[in-house]
Amino acid sequence: MGFEDILHVIKGRRSIREFIDKEIPREHLTKIVEAGVWAPSGSNIQPWEFIVVDDVKMIEKVKLVSPGLFGNPKALIVICVNRAKYERGGSQGRLIALMDASMAAQNIMLEAYSLGVGSCPIASFNKLAVKELLKIPEHVEPVLIISLGYPSKWPDPPKRRPLKEVVHLNEYGRPYEG
Ligand SMILES: Cc1cc2nc3c(=O)[nH]c(=O)nc-3n(C[C@H](O)[C@H](O)[C@H](O)COP(=O)(O)O)c2cc1C
Repeated sequence: MGFEDILHVIKGRRSIREFIDKEIPREHLTKIVEAGVWAPSGSNIQPWEFIVVDDVKMIEKVKLVSPGLFGNPKALIVICVNRAKYERGGSQGRLIALMDASMAAQNIMLEAYSLGVGSCPIASFNKLAVKELLKIPEHVEPVLIISLGYPSKWPDPPKRRPLKEVVHLNEYGRPYEG
């Protein structure tokens, strides 16, 4: 098993908001969601649940209650956290579960990108409406939607704050020289 620097994959991924009309093969969707399952999680609790939505009518319904969902994606992955799993983590349980879900989300988006599939994380959606549409039980909370589809184009990367502004060496405020 070799190790490969994936910084180019990390840097190349973009949030995609315009998709072409092309289906994502089921085996690729499976790999994409599988990448989520392999994320790290606090105490390996794996508090997540993933709802893959590939039904066009259901995607349209979710879009109607999701102001942050743009374009016509071919699939959605609704990432949820399950209270029954994370409550044994105590008062920090939900916070850690949200971190776990975020790590799963990034894995999902990077795997999608490596397969040529564009994605966008979407936090701007009506949780209650999505719960109802997808028949999500009371103790399961949808926290992030990932839209998926082949991009019309890969946009230029939005600027990042420079390393020297955000990285500190040994103590806060001391510049890190790369
Ligand atoms: C937690 C989170 C929530 C986001 N919610 C939305 C959203 O509701 N709608 C949207 O179009 N983009 C959303 N984004 C995407 C960001 O706008 C995007 O990641 C950022 O502009 C950087 O662009 P890049 O992903 O292409 O590097 C979200 C990103 C994150 C991490």
